[in-house]
Amino acid sequence: MTAPNTTRRYQSGFGNEFATEALPGVLPIGQNSPQKVAHGLYAEQISGSAFTAPRSENKRSWLYRIRPAAMHQAFVEKAHATLMSGPFDAVAPSPNQLRWNPFPLPDVPTDFIDGLITIAGNGSPDSQCGIAIHVYAANRSMHDRFFYNADGELLLVPQQGGLSLRTEMGVLDIAPGDIAVIPRGVRFAVDLTEDSARGYVCENYGAMLRLPDLGPIGANGLANPRDFETPVAAYEDREGRFELLAKFAGKLWSAEIGHSPLDVVGWHGNYAPYKYKLAHFNVINSVSFDHADPSIFTVLTSPSATAGTANMDFVIFPPRWMVAEHTFRPPWFHRNVMSEYMGLVYGEYDAKAEGFLPGGGSLHNCMSGHGPDATTFEAASTAALSPQKLDKTMAFMFETRLLIRPTLLALNSPQLQQDYLQCWHGLKKHFKG
Ligand SMILES: [Fe+2]
Repeated sequence: MTAPNTTRRYQSGFGNEFATEALPGVLPIGQNSPQKVAHGLYAEQISGSAFTAPRSENKRSWLYRIRPAAMHQAFVEKAHATLMSGPFDAVAPSPNQLRWNPFPLPDVPTDFIDGLITIAGNGSPDSQCGIAIHVYAANRSMHDRFFYNADGELLLVPQQGGLSLRTEMGVLDIAPGDIAVIPRGVRFAVDLTEDSARGYVCENYGAMLRLPDLGPIGANGLANPRDFETPVAAYEDREGRFELLAKFAGKLWSAEIGHSPLDVVGWHGNYAPYKYKLAHFNVINSVSFDHADPSIFTVLTSPSATAGTANMDFVIFPPRWMVAEHTFRPPWFHRNVMSEYMGLVYGEYDAKAEGFLPGGGSLHNCMSGHGPDATTFEAASTAALSPQKLDKTMAFMFETRLLIRPTLLALNSPQLQQDYLQCWHGLKKHFKG
């Protein structure tokens, strides 16, 4: 077993044409698939888009690996009690506003895959649109098993505990405050860097996540491309009795594999995992009056065929200065044709005085009214409007054009707060005709 590239580094940029090798001379010059690859490796392409997708949308990488991806035993379906997939039609969605407490950390050995719990979703892998929203809670690393997801790319949002993501393209280390995206099909294993880990996962069945257009903002701002980091090549030359897990057509599948599939010694291309530190997000907002719609905080977007109407937007509510005058500063009361699942990485969200906890979540579906709770409304209506730093907070939203359908498991879980609606019941009538 070897583990080269011990000095871990990342390649900077979003969707760049990367090239990286863990041993010198692996990458062929001027062609992709020579008759004999250096170091006795196999050449293999992974395509994340159709071969004929327009050049601006075309995603593929060439991997130079010890064994091809086809080398494993047959897959058999494997049960998973809490991992679900679209279509989310087991229970009819309701217009009720919902909120969950954080799911507990496991008390038996549980790795990242075992620890996935599906909260809600929409669309389906078959239709290649929609998302699934999962949380994870784990207390052990994936030593002898590996995973890939054919149904969608995975956006990981850690809330507690660091993760070391060993992928075919290299290693990504992330911690709360970071995110990572693992493209459809890329094999990986998740190691914990602390005793336990918890967080959120958005499984995106739709178009690949990308940076939003900036319009009149101009060339800079929001998430800048150079702050995204993609791993350099790092390989495992390891043999044994391992398990290769796949999520395919909504089910979990298992195959025996006699070697680590993380055996890519060099690769080049623009289809690769990446990570991003949310603290690098360049917040843009009002400096006069009325804060902007939350879309101004979009980090990544999965577009749909309808312009400006996302399959999924990943939006954050990071630390920022509040300076707008004559303005009700917390998020306002509103209803939305888009549906919103929110989570909290740390701190407090400025629309809720209590009840919205780190690791928990809330769901406000299409046209369901929501906004600040009574305590927050009363305080913000009389607060001094001098410049104020909203600090030490990181909430986020998965916003999607399709109704978000909670799973039966999530609706029946003890984490579902039965009294959520009461946070608005104390709003006073101030009207004086
Ligand atoms: Fe909202």
